[in-house]
Amino acid sequence: MKAAWYDTKGPAAQVLRVGELPDPEPAAGEVRVRVHVSAVNPSDAKARGGARGNVAMPFPRIVPHQDGAGVIDRVGTGVDPARIGERVWVYEATLGRASGTAAQFSVVPAHKAVRLPDDVSFEVGACLGIPAMTAHRCVFADGPVTGKAVLVQGGAGAVGYYAVQMARLGGASLVLATVSREEQAVRAREAGAHAVINYRTENVVERVADLLGPGRALDRIVDVAAGVNLADNVKMLGARGVIAAYGSDAEPQPPLPFFAMLAKDLTLRTVLVYVMSDEAHAEAVRFIDHALRAGQLVHQIQRVYTLEQIVEVHEACESMKNVGKLLVRID
Ligand SMILES: NC(=O)c1ccc[n+]([C@@H]2O[C@H](COP(=O)([O-])OP(=O)(O)OC[C@H]3O[C@@H](n4cnc5c(N)ncnc54)[C@H](OP(=O)(O)O)[C@@H]3O)[C@@H](O)[C@H]2O)c1
Repeated sequence: MKAAWYDTKGPAAQVLRVGELPDPEPAAGEVRVRVHVSAVNPSDAKARGGARGNVAMPFPRIVPHQDGAGVIDRVGTGVDPARIGERVWVYEATLGRASGTAAQFSVVPAHKAVRLPDDVSFEVGACLGIPAMTAHRCVFADGPVTGKAVLVQGGAGAVGYYAVQMARLGGASLVLATVSREEQAVRAREAGAHAVINYRTENVVERVADLLGPGRALDRIVDVAAGVNLADNVKMLGARGVIAAYGSDAEPQPPLPFFAMLAKDLTLRTVLVYVMSDEAHAEAVRFIDHALRAGQLVHQIQRVYTLEQIVEVHEACESMKNVGKLLVRID
């Protein structure tokens, strides 16, 4: 099969290769997916680059990318052969495994290949995995958001964009989003944000207070930059509010404003999609599947690359300047 891979960790241009590898075979309980579209996420690039000292190779050779979409073409024992031919979206293809979606074939546990509705494209299917599942957990892990006021910090990011949509679908009465430029503001509004705040040019705490009106505070915050935003988040939340934090690249070890948080009985929840319980994964899949079938989700695709452009895709991902998903078409 045609595939991209790396045998050592390091900069994309130094370690990523494209060529021919043996076709993988599905073991018991697994399916093999003929991948049509693969997606890169920041964690794919971080894993390949050896971020945070994680430089050891868990396998001698890794085909990267957790997320993708395609068609099941083989099944292992114990999997219903009727699944052959099923269009699917794939999540966590390289979690504890080496056969990611940046290849013509990826082998995954059967439940990680989820039926894709006929009218949903492979491009859209490849967008879902990490971003939509993380967003689901961030929005719903602490109970329903019905009637609640929710702020999504980074509402045009891959995760944030779905978090805005899911908060709206969950019945939040006010959904606010922070962005840093007009291109992002357009996306956050199209996701359903009632109002958008530019965190670089506006005072977020004051704008949120104005938008909430007197006597009201935020109930929930979903945050991509938890460390830098922590002090402001504590100011904006009301009693028993929750911060669901899934990223903190700029400030990995923020000082904890303990007594300010204690005074409001706040919860700081961290979310790591890979460590979510089986039940949380299943709930996210059910929600996403239902929303897809009901046509309730919109998706943002910035650019579709070829597999030969794998280095360019990873470097673009690492720039963190994208508005929308970076995808790879696998011919
Ligand atoms: N924990 C998990 O399970 C999980 C899952 C998915 C992703 N992540 C991590 O989350 C991060 C984002 O991933 P992604 O795929 O969503 O990336 P993305 O599509 O590049 O989105 C990141 C967004 O964060 C915004 N942002 C950065 N600093 C901000 C700040 N101080 N306040 C508000 N918004 C800010 C960016 O806007 P600007 O242009 O203004 O910077 C951008 O819109 C990465 O570090 C990734 O590894 C974690």
